[in-house]
Amino acid sequence: MRGILLAGGSGTRLLPLTTINSKQLLPVYDKPLVYYPLSVLMLAGMREILVITNSLHIESFRSLLGDGSHLGLDLQYAVQDEPRGIAESLLIGREFAGDEDVCLILGDNIFYGQGLPAALHNAAETVDGCTVFGYPVSDPERFGVAVLDGDGELVDIVEKPTAPPSNIAVTGLYMYSNDALGYAEKISPSARGELEISDVNRLLVQEGRGRIVQLGRGNAWLDAGTHDSLLEASQYVQVLQKRQGMQIACLEETAFRMGYIGMDQLSELADRLSTGSMYGRHVRSLVEA
Ligand code: DAU
Repeated sequence: MRGILLAGGSGTRLLPLTTINSKQLLPVYDKPLVYYPLSVLMLAGMREILVITNSLHIESFRSLLGDGSHLGLDLQYAVQDEPRGIAESLLIGREFAGDEDVCLILGDNIFYGQGLPAALHNAAETVDGCTVFGYPVSDPERFGVAVLDGDGELVDIVEKPTAPPSNIAVTGLYMYSNDALGYAEKISPSARGELEISDVNRLLVQEGRGRIVQLGRGNAWLDAGTHDSLLEASQYVQVLQKRQGMQIACLEETAFRMGYIGMDQLSELADRLSTGSMYGRHVRSLVEA
């Protein structure tokens, strides 16, 4: 399975923060937002990852993450010149995917939880059509919302409904079997002028090829699309990191623990990071431990 990280968009809801900055490069506590979804793809076992962003910011992403080889990754980049919708990323990423299945993650989604890597591994092995990941929220009208039958099976998805049919939001993490990528060609732009990922997913659900994996209450899901949610995400990361003395979404640590890099490479990465930062001290402490 190959990963696609979608980090474009106009960032209008975060103006003026996003006047010159990409939303996904803004800080969430001590690291750029994009580190969080990237670490999720890494934890799910993906090493070949396409980063899609707009032409204004692509060089900043490249400066930050490079070709990924220092993390044992193969990072590639593609441009989405206009925010024509999340589903367009499946078309942009089609050539990159080759014959492989795809895991798409939105660059402003943060996931954290012990059971997450196992849930992602299991889902990746069984994907046929699409697999979406559900999470209970108090404000489902802000999201794509899952419609479930009595057995908890996915029967429909409604995008930002005024009267939500359930409290299960469809998060910004999706898995597709290779043939499903072309379904993004079958849909038309919505009223807001976008190729909606929910429309692609709904087509697959209607064919009986859509399934939902519910992320249990042991997991956290945050999106950082508004000023409040960006601040809350920072506070969440700060509280957990300080309390546990651990790092969330430390890419160097994830690469090492996943076996993408060895101790020598980790040690080189620690040398490059200043121990003046908490993040740098954490990577150094891993080498010393
Ligand atoms: O966060 C999960 C939600 O994401 C889902 O529940 C919804 O079903 C899904 O439509 C999406 O809803 P949003 O309205 O929150 O999506 P938004 O337009 O904010 O875009 C999400 C991210 O994707 C954002 O970081 C920008 C990026 N993006 C968006 C579009 C439309 C792109 O890179 N290109 C695009 O064309």
